Amino acid sequence: MPHTTVLEPLEADQWFVDSPELREFVAITKEIISSTTHNRTQTLNALEPHFAALLKKENWLPKHFAQPNPDSSLGGGIGQWLLYRSQERSLTIFSLVIPPHAITPVHDHLSWGLVGLYQGKQEEIVYRRVDSGELEGRAQLEIVGVYQVKTGDIYRLLPPDEDIHSVEATTVFAPAVSIHVMGNDTGSIWRHQYNPEQGSVRSFRSGYSNISVKEQKESHAKIR
Ligand SMILES: [Fe+2]
Repeated sequence: MPHTTVLEPLEADQWFVDSPELREFVAITKEIISSTTHNRTQTLNALEPHFAALLKKENWLPKHFAQPNPDSSLGGGIGQWLLYRSQERSLTIFSLVIPPHAITPVHDHLSWGLVGLYQGKQEEIVYRRVDSGELEGRAQLEIVGVYQVKTGDIYRLLPPDEDIHSVEATTVFAPAVSIHVMGNDTGSIWRHQYNPEQGSVRSFRSGYSNISVKEQKESHAKIR
């Protein structure tokens, strides 16, 4: 795989949604991250009940952040709205809004993370990579699980074996909205999109629906 993205730190933490509920959750999350540095399974275990409590709360996510995005870089009108980003870009929280029956590409995240359903239902197909990665542009995946996820449910991301998936909204009228808590700046880094039928892989950068392309390009110190 060609890219490791190196990102400049930001001038300060960025809050795109400023609510007491989110501020409290971020403070707790930072404490947990720093006390479980060497074991990300512990990070996820400690974080999950606090995240479950946040998902149960109402009215902290403004409606704008639960809307699809017609100009989506992920296709299908899928919105990826940044809610919070830490100065070091080692913690981001964003919403992913998938219109009814839309499906994400098969993709990875390259970080630990928790995803919780805030609204609606999704089908998640989890894959595992089974080739050596030596052939440029080629990747063999096998399906390791298909999961039905409903409002309030949480699932984990933990590379390398729990990192590749696609997600489809199984709602009929309203979008499925999930909240992502990620240990990297997922929308800004180069990561991977897979085509399991063709056995191919390509690099992609999803961006965020509420961050301009210009700003995203300027945020890269270098790509190596
Ligand atoms: Fe994902």
